[in-house]
Amino acid sequence: MFDWLLPEDHAIALLKKDHDTVKNLFEQFEKAETVSAKEKIVEQALTELRIHAVLEEEIFYPTVRRHVGGKIMNEADEEHHVAKVLIAELDSSTVKNDHRDAKFTVLAESVRHHIKEEEDQMLPKVKELDIDFKALGQRMLDRKKELLKNGIPSDPEHALIAKAGRNVDSPAAAAARRKTATGRTKTATARAASTRSRAKR
Ligand SMILES: [Fe+2]
Repeated sequence: MFDWLLPEDHAIALLKKDHDTVKNLFEQFEKAETVSAKEKIVEQALTELRIHAVLEEEIFYPTVRRHVGGKIMNEADEEHHVAKVLIAELDSSTVKNDHRDAKFTVLAESVRHHIKEEEDQMLPKVKELDIDFKALGQRMLDRKKELLKNGIPSDPEHALIAKAGRNVDSPAAAAARRKTATGRTKTATARAASTRSRAKR
């Protein structure tokens, strides 16, 4: 349970504040009733999450990795990767996609789980470190300012989804496409067999 009182410019306090912001957006999404209200929240949450991930991956994680240990840090890395795939899919889809709400809901569930692990397992270990947490926090704030001014750099997950194009949609849509393709192959095979048998006669 995370209930430490820290100065607001402490690196851990900054992360905790970001966590609370996105959790609050997830709750707002669950209560939102109109498409436009939901879209506003999705857009804001995706930006918050992308900035938060850059700050952790570039600054916070490398600083604490050795002390926290590979097991917890690698799991956190993988959770970022999965979240970023979903973020990239949401960035590349539109409101017309009937899985958009579901995709954002799964992203929210997965990020809530990630936040809980960070707050219950990673951050208590980080707190033991004898480092200048205010200086670390300042580096994070400076980077955040830069990202807000110049934009968030694209990541490999966005490149992956862009390359896959519309083929990465949903398992249901992919199965339907497979079924149509199998149907077409069967028809073509049957047509070829009947042509062969007519030729023999
Ligand atoms: Fe994280």
